[in-house]
Amino acid sequence: MSYKVTLIPGDGIGPSIVEEAVKVVEATGVEIEWEVREAGEGAMEKHGTPLPEEVLESIRRNKVALKGPITTPVGSGFRSVNVALRKILTLYANLRPAITFPGVHGLPFDNIDLVMVRENTEGLYSGVEHFVDEDKTAAESIKIITRKASERIIRFAFEYARKEKRRKVTLVHKANILKFTDGLFLEIGKEISLQYPDVEFEDRIIDNMCMQLVKKPYLYDVIVTMNLYGDILSDLCAGLVGGLGLAPSANVGEGLAVFEPVHGSAPKYTGKNRVNPCATILSAAMMLKYLGEREKGEAIYRAVGEVISEGTSLTYDLIENPDKSVGTREIGTAVARKVKELLNA
Ligand SMILES: NC(=O)c1ccc[n+]([C@@H]2O[C@H](COP(=O)([O-])OP(=O)(O)OC[C@H]3O[C@@H](n4cnc5c(N)ncnc54)[C@H](O)[C@@H]3O)[C@@H](O)[C@H]2O)c1
Repeated sequence: MSYKVTLIPGDGIGPSIVEEAVKVVEATGVEIEWEVREAGEGAMEKHGTPLPEEVLESIRRNKVALKGPITTPVGSGFRSVNVALRKILTLYANLRPAITFPGVHGLPFDNIDLVMVRENTEGLYSGVEHFVDEDKTAAESIKIITRKASERIIRFAFEYARKEKRRKVTLVHKANILKFTDGLFLEIGKEISLQYPDVEFEDRIIDNMCMQLVKKPYLYDVIVTMNLYGDILSDLCAGLVGGLGLAPSANVGEGLAVFEPVHGSAPKYTGKNRVNPCATILSAAMMLKYLGEREKGEAIYRAVGEVISEGTSLTYDLIENPDKSVGTREIGTAVARKVKELLNA
């Protein structure tokens, strides 16, 4: 079976890491027709907007996209192109797995396997923020939590846990202080958990969760939370498993999904063949699983793991002695070769 997927190379390091992800997907033998669409700085120059309608139209048509990071150009009118994309397409669930790959330099734990499910459309990212007085001595930002979006994301977390045979959902909040917003989110979590007796449910206050994740991250499985807490906790989890170079993500809505690395466009590394493409490669693996090519997606995960544990083709962020590191293209080629070996074995 062949698929049509929108491919957004993005800005800065984006095109170089996306190229490696495409190479690795090709190594799986899954046939994909990539529809390349430009968003970000290049699009701003050509179309006067970093998010042209043709990008949105392509994703709506193909239903699936693989995306590199995008710089939000100054003066583009967008607070963030990435946040705008998620909002316009109602990609309400942001999935960020954090899995330990043994062999990564300086790992504090060797057994983490958790997935953060972050609400992507409201909370403190609703953009309702202003100064209270003319002298700008005070400002306020409004946190919007609705039953509709909370039910949708919490149900998504439980369904995901069931589908991926995960045992527990932990809901993170600050309902002891934010009694209405976080209180509503927690109340809905408790209600929905009753419909999933096969999945364990617990809740944690955000500050306690930060400490627990640093001390005992291996106790957690699926974590569901609101927009800002999810943003912060997922970077914490990325740090626990070796940094942004190994942090993939999916943004999922009703029948639409955009896969991208968690990190940004790291402009200072543009064209240097230096950064780690694995977060984008692993995002492409998530995409294959989403498309139904589960075995091929899992082969990519295994290939990344084996290349890391062999330790001879690693980028600077994964290795103790950066003098022994390889570049973006070299690690991409090593993963692609390993994928072929695993699938032909
Ligand atoms: N989803 C997205 O497209 C997205 C996400 C975050 C930031 N951004 C944008 O990216 C631009 C740069 O943001 P930033 O500098 O704050 O964050 P960044 O993630 O681009 O880079 C921060 C640092 O993390 C490290 N890093 C990032 N990716 C790496 C990789 N693949 N391999 C190895 N090291 C890596 C580098 O040391 C880099 O200097 C901004 O314009 C921001 O808006 C986009």
